[in-house]
Amino acid sequence: MAGAKLDAIKQAAPAVLPSLLQCDFGDLKTEIARLSEAGTQVLHLDVMDGHFVPNLTIGPPVVEAVRRSTDLPLDVHLMIEAPERYVEAYVGAGADRLGVHAETCPHLQRSVAQIREAGAQACVVLNPSTPPEAVEWVLGDVDQVLVMTVNAGFGGQKFIASMLPKIETLRGWIDERGLEVSIEVDGGIGVETIARAARAGADVFVAGTAVFGAPDRGEAIAALRRAAEVPVE
Ligand code: DX5
Ligand code: ZN
Repeated sequence: MAGAKLDAIKQAAPAVLPSLLQCDFGDLKTEIARLSEAGTQVLHLDVMDGHFVPNLTIGPPVVEAVRRSTDLPLDVHLMIEAPERYVEAYVGAGADRLGVHAETCPHLQRSVAQIREAGAQACVVLNPSTPPEAVEWVLGDVDQVLVMTVNAGFGGQKFIASMLPKIETLRGWIDERGLEVSIEVDGGIGVETIARAARAGADVFVAGTAVFGAPDRGEAIAALRRAAEVPVE
């Protein structure tokens, strides 16, 4: 079962997930091997459709090619309209966890149930202007909530600090209800912002520029992980 791979990662929290958005897609195999050697626990893949977001990226065949290149768990972030049309295709291609934007799902509970039925962990993604209440009544049906700390669509944008109270609110609800739901953040993550997001209650961190823009990817991932280790009070 796809989810099992991700359960093992939980023991090693916090997790830093390199986003493949800025990799050399002409040499995917080498890029993935390098990331794996650099200590990657999970890979983050950004799927964009040119409609929900202006940018256009990869489809199921590329996810499938990544799947064939590595045993690492794949965290697939769908930034597409009507994602319910493609859930089975992406899980079939090898997604271990599939994220759908709340803004694209009028029947969000049905969509997350569909992801679990297809055999992957379910994640709901919230764009910056979407309130935490959008996911409040399906928290018991998901494995992860992804709080976007930039507007979805591009790498290299600036971290939006006003998202920190949203993370705190979600962490409060999850802990109060005793749920096993991780909180992922994506957008503008670096050593300074990762520490703030971790203190607010996030435990899974996506990093594009902070990994691909660094001279040594292994050192960059290790430094991010160290910065995310919140001291127990
Ligand atoms: C943006 C994507 C991100 C992106 C992050 O819409 O969801 O995963 O790759 O890139 P950075 O870390 O550069 O903000
Ligand atoms: Zn992403």
